[in-house]
Amino acid sequence: MTIQQNQPTLLQQQYLANINPPEPTVLTELRAETAYHRKANMSIAPEQAQLLKWLAQIIQARYYLEIGVYTGYSSTAMALALPQDGHITACDINVTYTDIARKYWKKAGVSTKIDLYLQPALITLDTLIAQQKNNHYDLALIDADKAPTPHYFERCLQLVRSGGIIAIDNVLLHGRVLRPVQLHESESTSIMRQFNASLVQDHRINMLTLPLGDGLTLIQKK
Ligand SMILES: C[S@@+](CC[C@H](N)C(=O)[O-])C[C@H]1O[C@@H](n2cnc3c(N)ncnc32)[C@H](O)[C@@H]1O
Repeated sequence: MTIQQNQPTLLQQQYLANINPPEPTVLTELRAETAYHRKANMSIAPEQAQLLKWLAQIIQARYYLEIGVYTGYSSTAMALALPQDGHITACDINVTYTDIARKYWKKAGVSTKIDLYLQPALITLDTLIAQQKNNHYDLALIDADKAPTPHYFERCLQLVRSGGIIAIDNVLLHGRVLRPVQLHESESTSIMRQFNASLVQDHRINMLTLPLGDGLTLIQKK
């Protein structure tokens, strides 16, 4: 009952959409195309993108690292939020999805701000560490396959500067981590349950998990 009361109603969503900064048209179009082509839309929610944009602006982010691009909603939103000399390192493995992202980067006029690495994200992150990009990024979003999340987090913690932010999406796994431990639960469920519980004791960071979308964890590196 409490959970239902906390869900934003349609009326609330419409009201907030009217009083908050508007969604750029290119993002509305991207969302419509993604919904048309894909039954399961994996994009971050518009309000999550608004929050990340706001955080990027208050920490004056220039360098953004994204793990999980899909059709480009979060990367396009962030590219529009970054200053002219800002830059995005984007990781994905899927050509079909990211071809849609590339189309919208072009439409938004932000293609030159983004380098896309089409290979497993762990390879890209280890390459960046080998290239001495430690403490380089202001903001990172982890939004890809769930089982490697603790590995993505450890690498992002090296790559993000002190005071920088790491956001992790879908930490509630559509409610799977809320249930009591099951005998035959998926590997990603048990990994995410342990990972979520470990963060509050991690002295390297300040963290907070918000019930936004499917659960968004925000982490600031000390
Ligand atoms: C939830 S979607 C990302 C949504 C995106 N942030 C947005 O707002 O539109 C997850 C993406 O992670 C990608 N992915 C899955 N496993 C990956 C891996 N090992 N390395 C890099 N990307 C991966 C998928 O291809 C998919 O595009």
